[in-house]
Amino acid sequence: MRINIPPFSLPFIFLIQLGIWTLVASGECLGSQQSLLLQLKNSLGFSINYSRKLVNWNESSDCCAWEGVACEEGRVTHLDLSGEKINSKLDNTSTLFDLQHLKRLDLSDNNFSSIIPPRIGDLTNLNHLKLSSAGFLGEVPVAISCLRNLVTLDFSSDSVLEGTNLVIPNLSALVQNLSKLQELHLDGSNISAPWNGWCQALSSLLPNLRVLSLSRCYVPGPLDESLLELQSLAVVDLEGTNLSLLEVESET
Ligand SMILES: *[C@@H]1O[C@H](CO)[C@@H](O)[C@H](O)[C@H]1NC(C)=O
Ligand SMILES: *[C@@H]1O[C@H](CO)[C@@H](O)[C@H](O)[C@H]1NC(C)=O
Ligand SMILES: *[C@@H]1O[C@H](CO)[C@@H](O)[C@H](O)[C@H]1NC(C)=O
Ligand SMILES: *[C@@H]1O[C@H](CO)[C@@H](O)[C@H](O)[C@H]1NC(C)=O
Ligand SMILES: *[C@@H]1O[C@H](CO)[C@@H](O)[C@H](O)[C@H]1NC(C)=O
Ligand SMILES: *[C@@H]1O[C@H](CO)[C@@H](O)[C@H](O)[C@H]1NC(C)=O
Ligand SMILES: *[C@@H]1O[C@H](CO)[C@@H](O)[C@H](O)[C@H]1NC(C)=O
Ligand SMILES: *[C@@H]1O[C@H](CO)[C@@H](O)[C@H](O)[C@H]1NC(C)=O
Repeated sequence: MRINIPPFSLPFIFLIQLGIWTLVASGECLGSQQSLLLQLKNSLGFSINYSRKLVNWNESSDCCAWEGVACEEGRVTHLDLSGEKINSKLDNTSTLFDLQHLKRLDLSDNNFSSIIPPRIGDLTNLNHLKLSSAGFLGEVPVAISCLRNLVTLDFSSDSVLEGTNLVIPNLSALVQNLSKLQELHLDGSNISAPWNGWCQALSSLLPNLRVLSLSRCYVPGPLDESLLELQSLAVVDLEGTNLSLLEVESET
């Protein structure tokens, strides 16, 4: 049998195919994923006056279409809660850490005023993690080192007050398994690694590093020439980081 397709219907067929393809690619939100997102919303304190994303999350629409959410095959892969003025603490019990398919997580510009919960290490599919100016404080959990697929990691903070910055007790331990990392932003953190050790650690552990941002940091020791071994390194930001003082200290 021969089917004659009138020429004017070809774009129509193409559009249907495009529609089907789009549906398959993003998918309809799975019920379990929607439930995790709604539990997350209910656990967070935020101002309804400022929220543009969370405030509109509700059952009336597909969760993959919610502001700040993107999916693949009905599973949440991107979550962007930046700038929502969230002012509640985040801990291990958050359903955020059950969103196992996340590849991109952005919690920047909020006020969580708590430590980064160690269960962040459960999100092993993450490629991009942005926690800048999110109000996290205290020691960065070594569980971050479980995120082997990270390409960008951003902990930068504008805060200059002591006690409100993130502390990285052992940078080597933190990045030991992050060999895919291309961008590392630690601006405003307290990196109390052993003298000089951090340069050698970065150069041996992060062969793909392209951007290293350490402005306004507390870092020990002068810069070490081992950083030159990083062939891809294109940007190093040390603005406001007191290298002269550190150099003097390290020589005594
Ligand atoms: C939110 O907006 C309402 C109406 O404009 C106002 O009455 C209320 O005080 C605001 N709340 C906050 C926390 O700013
Ligand atoms: C539910 O979400 C839609 C947008 O997705 C929004 O327009 C609507 O106001 C929301 N309803 C409630 C009750 O928040
Ligand atoms: C952040 O939260 C803490 C504790 O809840 C509070 O003391 C602080 O004022 C908040 N900061 C901002 C900028 O809202
Ligand atoms: C959070 O979970 C990690 C393991 O995922 C555990 O080591 C840690 O003690 C927990 N922290 C708290 C405060 O419950
Ligand atoms: C990181 O790698 C080391 C050495 O390969 C391994 O012993 C350790 O278990 C890994 N840690 C995590 C959190 O994956
Ligand atoms: C940096 O962290 C170390 C270790 O936690 C602490 O002793 C020191 O006071 C901190 N320095 C600043 C400037 O925050
Ligand atoms: C930092 O971590 C690395 C890798 O886990 C370890 O070999 C080293 O002993 C640690 N350094 C300190 C001072 O704890
Ligand atoms: C940097 O070190 C110099 C010399 O010790 C000191 O005078 C200056 O205040 C320091 N600047 C900062 C921003 O810590």
